[in-house]
Amino acid sequence: MEPSNINIHYESDSIAKFYSHNRVRWEQFYPSEQHVFKSVFDEHGAIKTVLDVGCACGGLGRALYDQFKIDHYTGIDINRASIQLARATQSNYPIPAHFECADIATYPDSIKNKIFDLVVSLSCADWNCETQKIIKTCWDHTANGGYFIFSFRLTNQRTLSTIEEGYQYVHFDEATQLTGREEKAPYVVTNVFEALEMIEAFHPKPDRFLGYGYWGKPSSMAVIPYERIVFSVLAVRKNQEDCKTIAELLLPLDLLVNHNESD
Ligand SMILES: C[S@@+](CC[C@H](N)C(=O)[O-])C[C@H]1O[C@@H](n2cnc3c(N)ncnc32)[C@H](O)[C@@H]1O
Repeated sequence: MEPSNINIHYESDSIAKFYSHNRVRWEQFYPSEQHVFKSVFDEHGAIKTVLDVGCACGGLGRALYDQFKIDHYTGIDINRASIQLARATQSNYPIPAHFECADIATYPDSIKNKIFDLVVSLSCADWNCETQKIIKTCWDHTANGGYFIFSFRLTNQRTLSTIEEGYQYVHFDEATQLTGREEKAPYVVTNVFEALEMIEAFHPKPDRFLGYGYWGKPSSMAVIPYERIVFSVLAVRKNQEDCKTIAELLLPLDLLVNHNESD
């Protein structure tokens, strides 16, 4: 695969500042994320190694250790300040961990040919330009019989895939403190049918697909033409055998109907 050079290498230290104390404990994760993690850990039964793509400061590894007792956590993030902070506090980490600053879409050397029982990517693939490449890399690093869990914003209208079509400011304080000069991240929102086709086209095909999502208002930092979108968490299980994918989707029914809403 071609190396990636399109993804934005976020420079802001606001990411590290925010994620150093947010989303570091299990209770700080959304109910939809908790629901999917619980289902996946129960079904798999022996998840030990986790790769977290877009890990920020590595809070998820601590939360998963507390909740499910994983053995090893690898966190990759494109934002240097977040990885610096993760490494600075690594001696307090409850399990062996490896942190690296890299764009996952370039297949970083340290994890080349490595596979993980669980690959997670929360608010990452839809937070950068090469969404499809990020998702493909995650799937490639998922072990046979292992799971890939990712969060994805869905719509029944057209996909917004570029930063010109939809963006958000990289800003975690009050909206009133926004200057408009902050870095921008793409705010990718994917048409639900395209998302389902994307999963159908995974290679190898997953044998199990769980989805959980609900309607909500886009972030107050986002500039997009839709007033509501579905925030979903999707989990797929890899199976090297030729198989059919069975989907279990807890999604609002009206997402799966092609409305001509002009939100
Ligand atoms: C919205 S934050 C989410 C952090 C964390 N996953 C969570 O849900 O709490 C998105 C993170 O993904 C990282 N990121 C974006 N594109 C990336 C890429 N191509 N490779 C690695 N990290 C990436 C960003 O730097 C940022 O830290």
